Amino acid sequence: MHATPHIAPPPTGDELPEWLQPRVPASFKPITTPARFCCIMQKGGSGKSTTAVCLACELALKGLRVRVWDVDAQLGGTTHWLTPQLDDGADHEPANLLHLFKGEASPDEVTYPTRVPNLYVVPSYTSLKQVELAPPPGVEQVIDWAINNTTDPYDVEITDCGPALGQLSVAALVGAPNVVIPLKASGFDLNALTELNRTLTLTKQRLAPQLKIAAVLLSEVLKSNLTSEVFDALCNDYPDSLIMGIRQSVKAREASLESIRLPLHEYAPTATVRKDFQYLAAQLVEVPTA
Ligand SMILES: Nc1ncnc2c1ncn2[C@@H]1O[C@H](COP(=O)(O)OP(=O)(O)O)[C@@H](O)[C@H]1O
Ligand SMILES: [Mg+2]
Repeated sequence: MHATPHIAPPPTGDELPEWLQPRVPASFKPITTPARFCCIMQKGGSGKSTTAVCLACELALKGLRVRVWDVDAQLGGTTHWLTPQLDDGADHEPANLLHLFKGEASPDEVTYPTRVPNLYVVPSYTSLKQVELAPPPGVEQVIDWAINNTTDPYDVEITDCGPALGQLSVAALVGAPNVVIPLKASGFDLNALTELNRTLTLTKQRLAPQLKIAAVLLSEVLKSNLTSEVFDALCNDYPDSLIMGIRQSVKAREASLESIRLPLHEYAPTATVRKDFQYLAAQLVEVPTA
């Protein structure tokens, strides 16, 4: 079913069975810079932050200036893994996404370098919950506005959503309307897709007409009949999107641990899961030739 032509042979290792080879529709084209992506799925642990961080790193390594937005009020996501490098080296909560939403800091003031050259982060902390509790005016447009009002624009902007489809996630979508959906091959995640599709449709109708689903990723993929069925179903349901598996790897899990906390490309440069993210990066973004 999904053996439609690939743009390029996938550099994802040979041990992938034929039915798990990435499906790239013939109509699919890499997005030219400046490019914006939103990692969204309203299930915790579906691979959003891993995708956002690893995709961002791979694009930064190609020389693109990349910024990741942590749009999740839970601790333990992007800000934890890709910590902002603060001028004073202090371990405090710097001006962050909450302050941008409240109009207390500018887009430039909430953007920080990371240990990865070319890669920047807009951090957030549990205090970000305030945005959902008392939304400031125009909440859904804030990230889009901020991206448009950044002094030195980035080539790629990636928003990483939390596990809810509230106003924060809608703001992340409006700011970055090329959608990347990571999910697991489980009944729970498939049920959640119906609700996500409704939110995507309404956001497109009302706030972001350019919204489109760029990619659907099967996270922590394992070879099984269920995975095969889900892969086929996704190919059917999202005929214009890149569909691919991201292989399960203990390296991906270890890299973000407090005691390690290194980007995957530093911690496990040859891991197969890293090859999957390299492939994803190559398919999603066209790198301009100098
Ligand atoms: N391909 C993978 N292989 C193994 N573990 C993974 C993989 N992708 C993500 N994980 C782990 O699964 C957990 C949830 O992933 P995460 O990206 O934080 O999900 P989300 O942001 O959707 O909540 C993390 O512990 C992460 O390290
Ligand atoms: Mg996350």
